[in-house]
Amino acid sequence: MVRSRILGMGHHLPSRVVTNAELGQWMETTDEWIHQRTGIRERRWVEGNVGASELGELAARQALAEAGRAPEDVDLILFATLSPDLNFPGSGCLLGARLGIPGVAAMDIRNQCTGFLYSLSTADAMVRAGMARCVLVVGAEVHSTGLDLTTRGRDVSVLFGDGAGCAVVGPADGPSMILDHQLHADGRFAEILMVEAPASRQMPRLTHQMLDEGRHFPKMDGKAVFKHAVEKLPQVVHTILGRNGYTLEDIALLVPHQANMRINELVARNLSLPAEKVVHNIQRYGNTTAGSIPIALHEAAQAGRIQRGDLVLLAGLGAGLTWGASLVRW
Ligand code: UT7
Repeated sequence: MVRSRILGMGHHLPSRVVTNAELGQWMETTDEWIHQRTGIRERRWVEGNVGASELGELAARQALAEAGRAPEDVDLILFATLSPDLNFPGSGCLLGARLGIPGVAAMDIRNQCTGFLYSLSTADAMVRAGMARCVLVVGAEVHSTGLDLTTRGRDVSVLFGDGAGCAVVGPADGPSMILDHQLHADGRFAEILMVEAPASRQMPRLTHQMLDEGRHFPKMDGKAVFKHAVEKLPQVVHTILGRNGYTLEDIALLVPHQANMRINELVARNLSLPAEKVVHNIQRYGNTTAGSIPIALHEAAQAGRIQRGDLVLLAGLGAGLTWGASLVRW
């Protein structure tokens, strides 16, 4: 049976660094509060009119170069984002145009912090089924244009940053392969993290009053999301490892979604994983949602923290609620 593997990766962060102290110019917050609760010191923001597809393109071109492929080789684009350039069409279509590959199939995957895992599993399935041989799996976000930068929105706005990561997925030709995925969703908890306007269920979708009330900004019950994360992430890790006949000792590296360093530290402690086996980069980038896992994975690979043949575990939880894990033989 054909299996798939990651042929190459890329990532891109905008050059503008926004420190915690800078946020303090617009809202009542401090570096101490943000760092103590989340681990974040700074994040990156785009400058000017830059959408998710532009960040995605920069990550994708790097990933294609690392994979030794050209844009013309791509036969499917999967674009994970909660901050698409436009309400429609999807950023995947825009990315195809940017890469100069008209006609290549493209779809957006709207699964927030788990978007990269859902996209990777779809790419894996398409390659295994013989329906694709060179898939761009992009996770990209521009959060900075959609944050409430007043004190009203500070619990959410200090967390998020812009950035993109990309993996090129194609047929495996040796022991390196994507092994398995475990994905979940539970819409009963949709309202603990959401942007509620504009929305098709409202007539009209957006009013001046909604804008005044800030209903176009993300809203979060942070404590509820935190609780779900520390409970569900260890569960999904145990499930995927057990099903594949591995234990935590077999894992070379856990690359968790970067939502809060405290969440990832608690998850690592719960799993008895030593600190050096867990990747953190939230200090520098904040939460880049669909971008966070591919950015962290690529940085870890570039830093030599993963060797060929290593077992790597990716895991995340976020809005939806969605959560999941992927297991990769690097
Ligand atoms: O990837 C998406 C998934 N998202 C997550 O995983 C986020 C999970 N949740 C969290 O990371 C945490 O809940 C937060 C970091 C968002 C918040 O931490 P918390 O310990 O749950 O704080 P809190 O929301 O209960 O707020 C505590 C206090 C409040 O003041 P009072 O009511 O105690 O006077 C807030 O108003 O901290 C205040 N506060 C802030 N103060 C300074 C909230 N945000 C800020 C801020 N700066 N940015």
